[in-house]
Amino acid sequence: MGENKKVILSGSTVTGDLTLGNYIGAINNWKKLQEDYNCHYFIADLHALTVQQDPKALRERCFSFFAQYLALGLDPEENTIFVQSHLHEHAELAWILTCLTPMGNLNRMTQFKDKSAQTKNINAGLFTYPVLMAADILLYQADLVPVGEDQRQHMELCRDLVIWWENRYGEGSLKMPEAYIGKAGARIMSLQDPTKKMSKSDENEKNFVSIIDSPKKIQKKIKSAQTDSDTVVTYDPENKAGLANLLTIYSVLSDKSVDEICKDYEGKMYGHLKVDLADLVVETLKPVQEKYDDLMKNKDHLEDLMAKGADKARVRAQDTLKKVYETTGLIFRR
Ligand code: TYM
Repeated sequence: MGENKKVILSGSTVTGDLTLGNYIGAINNWKKLQEDYNCHYFIADLHALTVQQDPKALRERCFSFFAQYLALGLDPEENTIFVQSHLHEHAELAWILTCLTPMGNLNRMTQFKDKSAQTKNINAGLFTYPVLMAADILLYQADLVPVGEDQRQHMELCRDLVIWWENRYGEGSLKMPEAYIGKAGARIMSLQDPTKKMSKSDENEKNFVSIIDSPKKIQKKIKSAQTDSDTVVTYDPENKAGLANLLTIYSVLSDKSVDEICKDYEGKMYGHLKVDLADLVVETLKPVQEKYDDLMKNKDHLEDLMAKGADKARVRAQDTLKKVYETTGLIFRR
């Protein structure tokens, strides 16, 4: 399957619930890429352990994320869709790369700085999080990594790791990946505070729309989204950040340009736009939610698909790990 196609890899951390930000910034692009590339999409459950998790809730959320991937249109026949922890190769390569990563570079990661400022008990996993992410990517010799804007710095570290690797061991065993960041919607903002990104781990649930929110909740959240006191619908991210965010969401979901949408709302109030956008989001997510509900009824089937995905992923992962063992001087197990 797709042996000559370029390889794509991406994933999402299993915390909170997938949001419109994840959908627009990432999964919508993953979907578009699945015909032309050899795509690998996984749920990052090991990354989720960097913050304290309730074991029962985490297990349920792993099923839920996997089902949401499928419901959002990722095809497990065409792609390799799997669970990160089902392949021990991720943790193994992460350790080898950790031993190559300077502390100073991890200290500069803005996401670590932000998260550690909000958390009292910081664990070492939160600090080395980007190295595990690099292992995820390098294990599959990925050419392209479709992500939102917030992952740019992590991608840079991954690319630096390839350079450090080559400086120590020479070229050949790890491939240099590139970030693929979509033009529109690479940074969807919080609904109540449009100066920060929409985040699934936000404590205030009014800040995000989750993929599995009920229609009523979606309507309420979008209608109460923070906007300015002006009335003219124009795209001005600096002075009208809240409105600009709604227009971006509208544009991606409707496939209309922002200019066209602004024209449609000439002479109309923001309220009109919010009502229509809320309807559009509800309509977009309706078939997704129906499929999701169906999938969640049969966890056995989901586990089967997880196992098949892991079997497919293992071929590439083992191949890379073998090269890495040989290069570093470790004996690869028979
Ligand atoms: P995560 O789970 O935070 O987000 C998953 C994807 O959604 C994008 N995204 C957004 N895009 C636009 N606007 C937003 N408000 C928004 N919020 C999130 C993210 O950029 C991401 O593409 N570390 C990663 C998971 C990961 C990974 C990997 C990704 C682990 N290993 C290897 C790529 C390759 C993360 O926590 O994403």
